Amino acid sequence: MLHAVFGSLSRSRWVARLLFRFDLPSLPPGGHYFDVTTLALLKASRLIPAGASVLDLGTGSAALIALSLWRRGCRVEAVEIDAGVADEAERCIRRQGAHLPLRRANLLEGAPSDTEFLLFNPPYVPTAVAERRGLPDAYRSQWDGGPDGTRVIAAFLDALEAHDGCPTAFLGINGRHVPRARVEALVAERPGLRLEDVVSERLLGVQVFVLSSGRSDPVSPAATAAGAAEGSE
Ligand SMILES: C[S@@+](CC[C@H](N)C(=O)[O-])C[C@H]1O[C@@H](n2cnc3c(N)ncnc32)[C@H](O)[C@@H]1O
Repeated sequence: MLHAVFGSLSRSRWVARLLFRFDLPSLPPGGHYFDVTTLALLKASRLIPAGASVLDLGTGSAALIALSLWRRGCRVEAVEIDAGVADEAERCIRRQGAHLPLRRANLLEGAPSDTEFLLFNPPYVPTAVAERRGLPDAYRSQWDGGPDGTRVIAAFLDALEAHDGCPTAFLGINGRHVPRARVEALVAERPGLRLEDVVSERLLGVQVFVLSSGRSDPVSPAATAAGAAEGSE
C-alpha cells in the first residue's frame, strides 16, 4: 500500500517540482523522477561544499541530484550508462540552462582523478522481487540489482577501490532490499576501501554509506562528521 502511494508520488511531475524546485519535463510512461534513496542522497549532498567537484553517478532520467548540486555552485558531472535515460536527463539539464556535462559511461570509467565527491543510488532491487512487482523492463538499468540486489553495488565498490583519485563517496541503499550488514560485508572484503560513516534515514528505510579509498584522509571529513549529528550510527 505504502509502496503504491510512494510510487505514484515519485511519478508526479507536480510533486517532483515541489520537492526539488525545478521545472521538470514530463517523463515517458514507466519513468519516475525520484525514489526514497534519491531523497536520502539529496539530504547527504548538502554536506558537500559549494565549489567542490562532484560526480553524480547513475544520474537518472531527471538528473535531480546533479542539478541540485549545480544550483548550489558545485562543479558537477553527471554519468549515466543507459542511453535512453541519458537522453531524458539531458533534456532536463537543458531545460534548466545548466552548465553540467553528462557522460555516457559505466561506473567510474573515465572519471577524473581530481573528483572530490561522488554520489550513487545504484540499482539494488533483487531481480525476482522486481519482476514480481512488475517494474518496467524498459527501465531495467534503474532497478535490476541481480539475484540478491548486490551486483552493481559490488561492481561499484571494485571500481572505487581501483580508482586513481580519493573521492569521498556517498552510496545510498534501501535497506529493505539489501541489508546494511550485507553492504558492510562487501566493503570489508575490499581492503582498499574505508567505511567512514553510515547515515540511517529511518523514515525512508535508507542507509547512506560514506566511503573513502583508504589511501588518504577523505575530502572534508568535518563535513561528514556534521552529517553524523543526525541519524548516523
Ligand atoms: C536507482 S536509479 C537512480 C537515479 C537517480 N540518481 C536518483 O537518485 O533518482 C540508478 C541509475 O543508475 C544508472 N546505472 C545503473 N548502472 C550503472 C552503471 N554501471 N554505470 C552508470 N550508471 C548506471 C541507471 O541507468 C539509473 O539511471
